[in-house]
Amino acid sequence: MAIKKVGVVGCGLMGHGIVQVAAQGGFQVVALEAEQKFLDSGLGRIDKSLAKLAEKAAEKAVKEGKASAEDAKAKAAADAAATRARITGSTNKADLADCDLVIEAIVENLDVKKALFAELGKLCKPSTIFASNTSSFPIGEMGDASGRPQRMVGLHFFNPVQLMKLVEVVRTPKTADDVFADAMAFGKACGKAPVACKDTPGFVVNRLLVPYMVEAMKMLERGDASAEDIDTAMKFGCGYPMGPIELTDYVGLDTTLFIVEGWTKRYPNDPSFQVPALLKKKVDEKKLGRKSGEGFYKWEGDKRV
Ligand SMILES: NC(=O)c1ccc[n+]([C@@H]2O[C@H](COP(=O)([O-])OP(=O)(O)OC[C@H]3O[C@@H](n4cnc5c(N)ncnc54)[C@H](O)[C@@H]3O)[C@@H](O)[C@H]2O)c1
Repeated sequence: MAIKKVGVVGCGLMGHGIVQVAAQGGFQVVALEAEQKFLDSGLGRIDKSLAKLAEKAAEKAVKEGKASAEDAKAKAAADAAATRARITGSTNKADLADCDLVIEAIVENLDVKKALFAELGKLCKPSTIFASNTSSFPIGEMGDASGRPQRMVGLHFFNPVQLMKLVEVVRTPKTADDVFADAMAFGKACGKAPVACKDTPGFVVNRLLVPYMVEAMKMLERGDASAEDIDTAMKFGCGYPMGPIELTDYVGLDTTLFIVEGWTKRYPNDPSFQVPALLKKKVDEKKLGRKSGEGFYKWEGDKRV
């Protein structure tokens, strides 16, 4: 694989996780943020996560009789320190110039993302591969903006990145074969199970999941079943860990609305993209789900009340 040094733009919820799994995978990583305070916060989250993982790894080694408590602790701490040492923070885009792969994980705004890739296209060495972690925008448009569409892929990680095994690796009709192969290999090296997907709305997971959540909200709207019964039905009937209404509260009603509205505008003839009136009403009322304390259910922190 040609990738050794990786840049990650944005060290927020997703970006800090991507920085961490890449460093755990043995890559040198530059974590780039817009401002020092956001960088400090992202790196702080990584430090906490690495400390927690080290604690768990030491406990496991002792339980399995592989080492004494003291040795296990020392080894886990040394591994975490080695991972952390591969990460460099920066607020200067010029530090991305010699990266072999740059992954974008900034705000979900296509114009802002395109402007970033246009800048990176001028700044980075010609062989740099570009990737976006976008959940809802076409990868091809960002590739065109970068001026090197053949070196553009999607690398769609899932939240929390450190725990979720999946990464969707998205290729556009212009993505070069070797670039795509390197992106798949990178996903694997980060400890993930990469799946290949074309540049289609929602890729695999969200293309199936979001219309399913919309269908559940439309059921609720029509009064076919209560929120509790829809969720119970899908948990016990399909073995899902969470029902679709609770899941919408979990994801955020505003985030769900943003994705569906974007798709209905961009693909007006696709019947599976529809905006439920109930979803719009709740967002207008600032009932955004778990994060605002109320959506379809009431929440206290992470717990439903
Ligand atoms: N949140 C999720 O569950 C999830 C899941 C998969 C994919 N995504 C996608 O990942 C991306 C990031 O989402 P998030 O939830 O991590 O957002 P976030 O708001 O937590 O993080 C974004 C970070 O990017 C930084 N940033 C913004 N513009 C920048 C710039 N020009 N240069 C450097 N840093 C910049 C911000 O300071 C912020 O820290 C979005 O495209 C989103 O759609 C999110």
